[in-house]
Amino acid sequence: MSKDYLNSVPAERFATIIPRRRAIIESASAEMPRYEYNVNVLARDLHPKVQHVVVSDVKELFNARLYTLVPDKELGTDKLAYFQAGQYISLDLSIDGSRLTRPYSLCSAPSTGEYQIMVKNMKNGFASEYINSNFRVGTKIDVSEPSGFFYHEPLRDSGKVVGIAGGSGIAPFISMARAIVSGIEDFELILLYGSRTEEEILFREELDELEKKCSKIKVIHVLSDEEREGYRHGFISADLIGEFCEDGSVFVCGSQGMYDYIRKETDKLGLPIKRVRFDAYGEYRLGKRDEGKVETGKVYELTVKTNDGLTHVIPARSDESILVAVERAGIKAPSKCRSGECGWCRARLVSGEVYIPEMTERRRQYDKVAGYIHACCSFPLSDCVITINCE
Ligand code: FES
Repeated sequence: MSKDYLNSVPAERFATIIPRRRAIIESASAEMPRYEYNVNVLARDLHPKVQHVVVSDVKELFNARLYTLVPDKELGTDKLAYFQAGQYISLDLSIDGSRLTRPYSLCSAPSTGEYQIMVKNMKNGFASEYINSNFRVGTKIDVSEPSGFFYHEPLRDSGKVVGIAGGSGIAPFISMARAIVSGIEDFELILLYGSRTEEEILFREELDELEKKCSKIKVIHVLSDEEREGYRHGFISADLIGEFCEDGSVFVCGSQGMYDYIRKETDKLGLPIKRVRFDAYGEYRLGKRDEGKVETGKVYELTVKTNDGLTHVIPARSDESILVAVERAGIKAPSKCRSGECGWCRARLVSGEVYIPEMTERRRQYDKVAGYIHACCSFPLSDCVITINCE
């Protein structure tokens, strides 16, 4: 609109704009649907606060169970939030008075409209034991929106990805392979998949089929406890990675012990940090690398001030994270990745001292200065007082 035109319009015309608009609004039908910005609808679909899902299928794998989750329309979830192959969801669980979460990588391809998660049978796995003993078709649960950064980003990653998987660490890669075959993702995936024996290879038949169907997928099985024709033997070493990773990005998913080992192997190859990506750790467990950093067998007093105005004084073991102590007390604290990555469990350390393992230290600089911690990977070294925003 030109300046000349605006100058030519009599000023009284502007004075009538608001009354005319009011009259139009008042005369509108009460039934008339209100306009909602598409971007708000999209944001809500992509980032729902909670998703109600129901188990629609359960499959037995070698040492794990595969659960298919579909929207629970009865509870108001009509469709599941979209995700990128390699992301995870966090399950909201209530076990023996504890309120806790557990992250699981999604195995399904993003196009299916359902989520698939694999839960390994673990000795003394508090949540996994509960899930695998209790979840059946029809079980209803709440899950988070899909989260995490372990996915292929063409602007950041090479068009060739060397995926290194150990055991159940195959979960995000099966999703990526499925997404490549269905045309949602477009990159070359060379999978170095370590299992102890041939029998323990998860998704074996499907991996063979995906490899046959699509020239962008190649799978190399590595068996540590068996020597068999057609398989590599031993561990996924620097030599083996080096055979495939020229110009490629390296993605790693497996146990915490495997991460320590692979980190040394990729260091031998001199790969820059930006080319090697590790999936979120899962629950951080203190190990050899933390020796001398915490006193074992101690129980401290943890005072938790929540945003509903309550104060809880609870025990906190020195070998468990502050988050676990809070969950054990039945306080529903926010969390998703449980490995320092998402920042969802952010809490303010008002007093006391904590140990934060170096590999889980991902706090923002401001948070470090202002005394915030990620409760999921902070271990008490003394009595502590924290404030936490609960849901
Ligand atoms: S739960 Fe993600 S940083 Fe703690």
